[in-house]
Amino acid sequence: MKLPLLTAITSLLALSAPATSFPLSWTDIFNFAPPVCLPPPTPKTTRLTAADLTKFIKPFMPPPRGGISFIPSFRPPLLNFTRKSFTTLFTDPHLKQFLTIAPNSSMVLMRKQVRDDTRMSYPYTTFGKVFLRDGAKRGFCSGTMVGPNLLLTANHCIAWKSTGNWSVEFVPGFNAEDSRQPRPWGGAFAKQCLGVDAGPTDGRDYAVCELDAPIGLSTGYLGWKASLKNEFYLKGEWNSVGYPFNFRGGQVPATEEGIRMRKVESSGGEGGKIMASSPYVEQGWSGGAVFGWEGDEPFVAGVVTATVGTSALDHIFAEFTFHAGGVRLAEMVQFGLTQWSLLG
Ligand SMILES: *[C@@H]1O[C@H](CO)[C@@H](O)[C@H](O)[C@H]1NC(C)=O
Ligand SMILES: *[C@@H]1O[C@H](CO)[C@@H](O)[C@H](O)[C@H]1NC(C)=O
Ligand SMILES: *[C@@H]1O[C@H](CO)[C@@H](O)[C@H](O)[C@H]1NC(C)=O
Repeated sequence: MKLPLLTAITSLLALSAPATSFPLSWTDIFNFAPPVCLPPPTPKTTRLTAADLTKFIKPFMPPPRGGISFIPSFRPPLLNFTRKSFTTLFTDPHLKQFLTIAPNSSMVLMRKQVRDDTRMSYPYTTFGKVFLRDGAKRGFCSGTMVGPNLLLTANHCIAWKSTGNWSVEFVPGFNAEDSRQPRPWGGAFAKQCLGVDAGPTDGRDYAVCELDAPIGLSTGYLGWKASLKNEFYLKGEWNSVGYPFNFRGGQVPATEEGIRMRKVESSGGEGGKIMASSPYVEQGWSGGAVFGWEGDEPFVAGVVTATVGTSALDHIFAEFTFHAGGVRLAEMVQFGLTQWSLLG
């Protein structure tokens, strides 16, 4: 039974498109200029091979219990807390035009926006928008605080091949439509990023960046859980927050809840996992967390990477949303926490 499953996913890989606006016509869709006075820094980049990362980080990895390893999250005592997200439903005008041709449009017409009381409550304070600049080009992705000064996003959001003059800015809790507090915790620029050599359909499509300010002390940050076993990801009920470009211009946080993984495979060596759910993302959601709960403790288990299907245009036509997770993600976060963190 293993082989057909593998083929099902692999045969779709050729049709995939990264769920990011980077580098697809991103100048058109970026319409929020962050208030930057000094030129933003070009981050240093480190790309380790997966094997080297595993070897280096081994002493810093917590031993798994029952096949699952984890580190706890940090919840600032002064922040409100919410176990449930309160959302506002919108008919997505972009999706509406497909009403007559979508195979099951009733399923996808409504998009959930994270309500402001939820946006300002932990753990929703840890999610935000990633502003990308590469020379004159602009784009964005989504991301999550996973340490005091540590951002988790998708590997394909990082301009590894840029010749310089590029930047990554993370703005937790971003909502351009809230005129009072569009950037409640400000933003921070990446000083350096770490990734392995992986594309958007690889189970290791994530990167961690050291930020130039410890904004995670104000927003809190998520711990992680990771397992070599597919069952962990298949059994879980997952949630995600991201900034899809064609939902309210990518200016507000959208969310999806109760996500179930339909297929999970090891990818890129034992450390990476590709996880496929029913489609829900669009470009800009790349790097958004896949998070779950254990009691009142939230944890991150992966990031959004791609939509895959017969057309990459929209999640209406897509067959799967892909996520990347696994032990490699945990190793990367541990690298950041132990090598770059102020607390480490
Ligand atoms: C916490 O929630 C209460 C009740 O909704 C609200 O009045 C208060 O402003 C919130 N505090 C913060 C720090 O968001
Ligand atoms: C359309 O989506 C709804 C909601 O998810 C589902 O209950 C229904 O079975 C779907 N219909 C078809 C024809 O797929
Ligand atoms: C870097 O990019 C910015 C934004 O396009 C541009 O204004 C600036 O002149 C560039 N700097 C260099 C050194 O190329």
